[in-house]
Amino acid sequence: MFQTLRPSVVLSAVAFAACATSKTAGGDNGPVPMQLRLAYSGNTGMVVSWNTYSQLSRPTVRYGLSPHDLYETAWSTISITYPTSTTYNNHVQLRDLKPDTLYYYQPEFSNSTTPYTFRTSRPAGDGTPYSIAVVVDLGTMGPDGLTTHVGKGAGNPLRVNETNTIQSLSRFKSGYDFLWHAGDIAYADYWLKEEIQGFLPNTTIAEGAAVYERILNDFYDEMTVVTADRPYMVGPGNHEANCDNGGTTDKVHNITYDVSICIPGQTNFTGYRNHFRMPSSESAGLGNFWYSFDHGMVHYIQIDTETDLGHGLIAPDEPGGSEGEDAGPFSDIKNAQTNWLAKDLASVDRSKTPWIIVAGHRPWYVSAQNDSSDVCLDCQNVFEPLFIQYGVDLVLSGHVHAYERNVPLANYGVDPAGLNNPKAPWYITNGAAGHYDGLDSLLEPLPYYSAFAQDTAYGWSRITFHNCTHMTHEFVASANGTVLDSATLFKKRTCDVQKNHGYRGHDSH
Ligand SMILES: *[C@@H]1O[C@H](CO)[C@@H](O)[C@H](O)[C@H]1NC(C)=O
Ligand SMILES: *[C@@H]1O[C@H](CO)[C@@H](O)[C@H](O)[C@H]1NC(C)=O
Ligand SMILES: *[C@@H]1O[C@H](CO)[C@@H](O)[C@H](O)[C@H]1NC(C)=O
Ligand SMILES: *[C@@H]1O[C@H](CO)[C@@H](O)[C@H](O)[C@H]1NC(C)=O
Ligand SMILES: *[C@@H]1O[C@H](CO)[C@@H](O)[C@H](O)[C@H]1NC(C)=O
Ligand SMILES: *[C@@H]1O[C@H](CO)[C@@H](O)[C@H](O)[C@H]1NC(C)=O
Ligand SMILES: *[C@@H]1O[C@H](CO)[C@@H](O)[C@H](O)[C@H]1NC(C)=O
Ligand SMILES: *[C@@H]1O[C@H](CO)[C@@H](O)[C@H](O)[C@H]1NC(C)=O
Ligand SMILES: [Fe+2]
Repeated sequence: MFQTLRPSVVLSAVAFAACATSKTAGGDNGPVPMQLRLAYSGNTGMVVSWNTYSQLSRPTVRYGLSPHDLYETAWSTISITYPTSTTYNNHVQLRDLKPDTLYYYQPEFSNSTTPYTFRTSRPAGDGTPYSIAVVVDLGTMGPDGLTTHVGKGAGNPLRVNETNTIQSLSRFKSGYDFLWHAGDIAYADYWLKEEIQGFLPNTTIAEGAAVYERILNDFYDEMTVVTADRPYMVGPGNHEANCDNGGTTDKVHNITYDVSICIPGQTNFTGYRNHFRMPSSESAGLGNFWYSFDHGMVHYIQIDTETDLGHGLIAPDEPGGSEGEDAGPFSDIKNAQTNWLAKDLASVDRSKTPWIIVAGHRPWYVSAQNDSSDVCLDCQNVFEPLFIQYGVDLVLSGHVHAYERNVPLANYGVDPAGLNNPKAPWYITNGAAGHYDGLDSLLEPLPYYSAFAQDTAYGWSRITFHNCTHMTHEFVASANGTVLDSATLFKKRTCDVQKNHGYRGHDSH
């Protein structure tokens, strides 16, 4: 059978070198793939990533258009880790694929008898309606995170047998093209808090690194049911860097832990940089921090609210700031992110991708304490002028663990058009996916710009692009799949988009 063998483009490797070739803590299944995840990589590419307990010399993926004939092969030399990690992160880019096409794939040493599947992105200008799923602030579910009981000080436990957000995302995955997770992924840095709050009784502080890695691996394992066949596009949140907000106090034992307790994966986005490969080289962005991609009628932009805000600002939450992230910067150029954003926005062809959707971890229009940890005024200063100038349609955020849909806003001013052809960007915060700590209470009374809010149910966002002019945002309650809030944005405009009548392979399971 015909086979092509070619190296994939060398994806930048994270600085930490492998210190051993086999990691055994937490179990050892050698080179068997786990935590499979996908990421769009341009219109004709896909990055397949997975973790293994042992280091792979040449991570390899076989793939093809039929489950019985994985006739293509792609590989890389990226099998990377960092001190204290129990696994290696493998990344392989598949290139020159057909757009909007179902592929079958298998990483080497797979123990799955049937291949996995993915669908490549819809070309820009394809006007076929579709939906995506969005979460922010989604943590590990089960005994290491959010479950039916909580530690001292945590809240909002799940009811017995309540469907959690990961289960709900899994249940509904045939209804969305990809999952977007704009920061705060797993909350593994809460190992310390969970121990202090008596939630993880059989662990000791000294086991910190092992417990951190266990919570992180639990999360990625739980997510695999979704991420192995739906692209999982991610952005940076403070919990990818800040090590339980820079320290915490055990009030019972009168011990204050500072940043010296932080372990490598927790600091400076180390675990996050190892684990993912977002399409920044395809969009002139930077690492997993800021990037953009097209998919059908939409141009998606991930921004970084955690580092590299530029403009001479030292954000309160930037290095040495109130949440002790002590992370970044990731560019040597002062305004690299905003310069990139302006250029990226200016280059969007609105006739092909009429919708521009931005996600960033931290909000600035939200019913929360007006302090730097919840409301990111520095983010507003650097990003909002560009969003207004280029007519961004929707800005998504989380960080505050509740759901709030605002009206379209510019510089605190309500757009008089509302959702009926506004000029100003629409703002939605949905940090209600769920994690160990439960939900946050929104500050009441709700401000003038708040259109709908709820802070008692866990859920995720489903966004449907109907056509060039109509888009619907829904809040889906994880517990029962009910849509608790739905709103449709109308934009009066004409586009050059067409419904695709080309090849679409049969659907995945
Ligand atoms: C395949 O390996 C993974 C990773 O070790 C493991 O979690 C999973 O249970 C295995 N599946 C089968 C079918 O053996
Ligand atoms: C939870 O589910 C289990 C297994 O289906 C069932 O036996 C049990 O009665 C359920 N508990 C509640 C409180 O619904
Ligand atoms: C803690 O360890 C004890 C003794 O091994 C065991 O009985 C108990 O179930 C464990 N608790 C948890 C939450 O794992
Ligand atoms: C807690 O410890 C600090 C110093 O470690 C001490 O000054 C303080 O008195 C202690 N507080 C209590 C309530 O024991
Ligand atoms: C974080 O990592 C980047 C890239 O390696 C580096 O330039 C920066 O100095 C690091 N920041 C901190 C606070 O360690
Ligand atoms: C929030 O605080 C900032 C800085 O202290 C202030 O400039 C701003 O007006 C406040 N916003 C609101 C809505 O109170
Ligand atoms: C679904 O769950 C949500 C959140 O718990 C709740 O508010 C709603 O009433 C439920 N709807 C139905 C139909 O059970
Ligand atoms: C676009 O979609 C909306 C919502 O489904 C529909 O009401 C509207 O008629 C559509 N517009 C066109 C031009 O098809
Ligand atoms: Fe956050």
